[in-house]
Amino acid sequence: MQSIKFYSKFILLGLLECYFISANPNLQKRQENINLDTWKKFEYTLSAPRSRLAGASAGNMLLFAGGIDSAGESSEIVDLYNASNGALTTARLSSPRSEIGSSSFLNNRYAIFAGGIGKNVTVSSSIDIYDSETGTWILKNLSEARANPRVLDLGNRLVIYGGNILKSPYLSRTIDILDASFNLSSQTESVLDYPQLGASASGVDRSTGMIMGGYENQNPNNRFSKLVASSQTLYIQNLDWTDRLFVVPGPVLEAPRWEASAAYANSQFIFAGGYIINANKEVASNRIDVFDYSTFRWSNQTLTLNSARFSIYSGTIKNHVLFWGGSESKMLDVYNSVERKMVNPIPESLFMNGPRYEAGQATLNNCLFAVGGGFDSNGEKITNLVEVINACN
Ligand SMILES: *[C@@H]1O[C@H](CO)[C@@H](O)[C@H](O)[C@H]1NC(C)=O
Ligand SMILES: *[C@@H]1O[C@H](CO)[C@@H](O)[C@H](O)[C@H]1NC(C)=O
Ligand SMILES: *[C@@H]1O[C@H](CO)[C@@H](O)[C@H](O)[C@H]1NC(C)=O
Ligand SMILES: *[C@@H]1O[C@H](CO)[C@@H](O)[C@H](O)[C@H]1NC(C)=O
Ligand SMILES: *[C@@H]1O[C@H](CO)[C@@H](O)[C@H](O)[C@H]1NC(C)=O
Repeated sequence: MQSIKFYSKFILLGLLECYFISANPNLQKRQENINLDTWKKFEYTLSAPRSRLAGASAGNMLLFAGGIDSAGESSEIVDLYNASNGALTTARLSSPRSEIGSSSFLNNRYAIFAGGIGKNVTVSSSIDIYDSETGTWILKNLSEARANPRVLDLGNRLVIYGGNILKSPYLSRTIDILDASFNLSSQTESVLDYPQLGASASGVDRSTGMIMGGYENQNPNNRFSKLVASSQTLYIQNLDWTDRLFVVPGPVLEAPRWEASAAYANSQFIFAGGYIINANKEVASNRIDVFDYSTFRWSNQTLTLNSARFSIYSGTIKNHVLFWGGSESKMLDVYNSVERKMVNPIPESLFMNGPRYEAGQATLNNCLFAVGGGFDSNGEKITNLVEVINACN
């Protein structure tokens, strides 16, 4: 039974690969001449300090939405930064909330903010959509209210996967799909052994996305969860000829770990850092795993971060994945997906001012990588600072 499932999966993926190579003849490796010495850092501030906020970009705007403010209340504030002229404006979400899932959509025209936790620990079903062309907001509802859903931009479809729910098994298996007319449909993930909340990344060029690692509930039918670091991966493909997404388990992770980060670059999914629990202690990892879209395998290459850490802010600019900060660190690591190696040395001028956690993150137009809000590493000071790496001139 197992082998039949396995076999048919690979036949399907073989077909997919033929389809994508023939459909996208221009998807070849592009050499990017990157000189990190030309990258610059700059800062701006949010209208109010907050943690657990969500970041996304739309058009030429960087948005940081919601979060928990310094009084410990859910916030509805959205701070918008216009990267063309540096102007800062604010808007409001349809409801105050934190732990929102976010992404850009439809060629970066829209920024999507889905779900979250509202006042008095209620989970939200709201989807707030910012249209950068009109400056207006569109509202939709998820089919199931949840926090921290993973939002994947698959080109002409947006996937809002899973998230935290308040009842057993506490991890949602719902997949909501927004099409290009913002019509919503849903399907249920039913292929993984256990419900999971992993790191996510998507590649618009390949209409593909993955959920990797994170944690899973191995006791899904019980009031009491058994949460463990997950080795499961979920592979999601958007296909032109069908309304349903193609969803299959991907090859498992060799070294599952909590709080690892993910990104997509140049037909590769990169999964980095995290921690394992050893004798009741968190032991940070410097491991990087690379999943290759064209072979449907994890690479056997050994790559490492310059410092072991978890909850790293990650984003992709010009085929380079940036791993910024994370746990007690302010360091930057950079993965060059064209040469499939780490870039070293990294100029210290690109490090964060200091470590921070529970911040939001976003990339803009293949040029900017921004990390905003959150706490300092002592967990004492909540900040309104946004630090931005500018990889363009
Ligand atoms: C951003 O700034 C540019 C340049 O000043 C301006 O043309 C554009 O309208 C601004 N965008 C928004 C959404 O305000
Ligand atoms: C939250 O709970 C408090 C205390 O029970 C109540 O006073 C308040 O109205 C509730 N807020 C909302 C938005 O439901
Ligand atoms: C979303 O759901 C709420 C509560 O059920 C409802 O009041 C609202 O009209 C819905 N919004 C949309 C855009 O469907
Ligand atoms: C989306 O919904 C609208 C209104 O319900 C409908 O007219 C339109 O055909 C739908 N679009 C797609 C692509 O299904
Ligand atoms: C890694 O994989 C490549 C290609 O699949 C293979 O040629 C190579 O021998 C492998 N290296 C190790 C160390 O396993």
